[in-house]
Amino acid sequence: MSIIKNDFEKMTITKIKKSKNSKKLTMITAYDALFSNLFKDIADFILVGDSLNMSFAGKNDTLSATLEQMIYHTNAVCTGAPQAFVITDMPFGTYNTKEQALENAIKIYQQTNASAVKVEGGEDKAHIVKHLTSNSIAVVGHIGLMPQYVRSEGGYKVRGKTKEDEEQLIKDAIAIENAGAFCIVVEGVLSNVAQKITKCVDVPVIGIGAGNVTDGQVLVWSDMLGFFDEFKPKFVRRYLDGANLVKQAVNQYRNDVQNASFPSKEEEY
Ligand code: KIV
Repeated sequence: MSIIKNDFEKMTITKIKKSKNSKKLTMITAYDALFSNLFKDIADFILVGDSLNMSFAGKNDTLSATLEQMIYHTNAVCTGAPQAFVITDMPFGTYNTKEQALENAIKIYQQTNASAVKVEGGEDKAHIVKHLTSNSIAVVGHIGLMPQYVRSEGGYKVRGKTKEDEEQLIKDAIAIENAGAFCIVVEGVLSNVAQKITKCVDVPVIGIGAGNVTDGQVLVWSDMLGFFDEFKPKFVRRYLDGANLVKQAVNQYRNDVQNASFPSKEEEY
């Protein structure tokens, strides 16, 4: 029996925009061909998030991810899922000026098959988003809790708790939409504020830690499959106990090696 949902259709920017108010969108991260191949016919889009710096490279935050790493992982993801709509995060420090942003986004487009790039920032980065979209780069915005701001903000802080912050988030969403982004990720925002953000823009809003009021959801694959078992943020739902399943399997393998039951006669030449 196939587990692939039969209503899957390859995404385009037009379809993504049209899905607002009609279909909830599913985004998942992937960093390699193995997993993008598993997700390709199921998720609407695949994000090569700079979260790979944490869940793949084991670092404490996303800030040391480089453009070269993002390009390397995007190529692997696109190879495993050639038909998927792949979005690549522009890493920290690669879009400080509009000229630098365009030069680096062009590198991503020329060296990978990514369909779009994602940049973190609201009103403060709208001129960058505008410059990219005016030069034929498709952009996904990312507002709210922005992991690339973790050191300057002094931690990961849930957004939208004051009237002032709520108003700022709405201004951020409108500025990013006006700059030409076709979709906006909203992370770590109070659900009632995420709902207002979702209503105030015409492009789909994809939430993470923003309640079920947005136009879709994104999760980091290693969080939702339970491979990262040291810490579980409140907003993550674990669909698999990945870490324990892997540990049990490897433990079984070691036992089989030690008692010489692996390999068996059937597993030898
Ligand atoms: O880097 C990432 O994986 C992300 C998601 C958490 C949205 O930006």
